[in-house]
Amino acid sequence: MTKNNLNQRNKLENYLFKPKFDYENKPINRFEKDKIFNNKLELLKKLKSKIENLQECELKNNASKIVFGDGNTESPLMIIGEGPGQKEDELGKPFVGDAGILLNKMLAAININRKDIYITNVVNYRPPSNRKPETKEIKRYTEFLYEHVDIVKPKILILLGSTAMEAFFGSNLKISKERGVWKEILIKDITFLTMVTFHPAYLLRQGDQKKHSWIDLKEIRKKIDELKINI
Ligand code: URA
Repeated sequence: MTKNNLNQRNKLENYLFKPKFDYENKPINRFEKDKIFNNKLELLKKLKSKIENLQECELKNNASKIVFGDGNTESPLMIIGEGPGQKEDELGKPFVGDAGILLNKMLAAININRKDIYITNVVNYRPPSNRKPETKEIKRYTEFLYEHVDIVKPKILILLGSTAMEAFFGSNLKISKERGVWKEILIKDITFLTMVTFHPAYLLRQGDQKKHSWIDLKEIRKKIDELKINI
């Protein structure tokens, strides 16, 4: 190929395959990002085995498997329920039964896809006959829950129901009074923006309370938009 032909071919290739770059002002340190992500997964794995090694726990002894967490560990939104039910115990994933189906619909109503959030429960084993976890059980598991929150480091924490509320704010509060209000909570030196709202299992029993839940959901969407959180 002559020099002239080669020049012409280069010009043509440049024209046809000119790559389009979107430049960021700040350099993206992919290595650092990957390192933090892998470290997070490692910490979650360690936390999970710490829970699996719990001794003398009635919940653990009666359940078939641990239900640790599900979803996007990088999510700015973390949701906390009460404890696994039958379906969750079977599948080892939180919120996969009827309450989970309603929760997915509630999230979709404010344009949030379930796969974009991270979700866990106060207790990681199904309580016998789906009973409510006792205060001493909530206290025991809260140590792990706080560690869970500290590893995921969401921007917003949504607490579903009175058990999740008790884990963060103690047992003397009434959910009907506390729901829908933004509060800040300090966990291991980090402040998290938190809202308590009704548990979807309660909404399945008390359909007339959905109107309050809808107000809370809209407030959550508003806060996400105000804070320019990408979800
Ligand atoms: N209810 C909860 O609180 N958590 C689940 O995972 C399922 C139902």
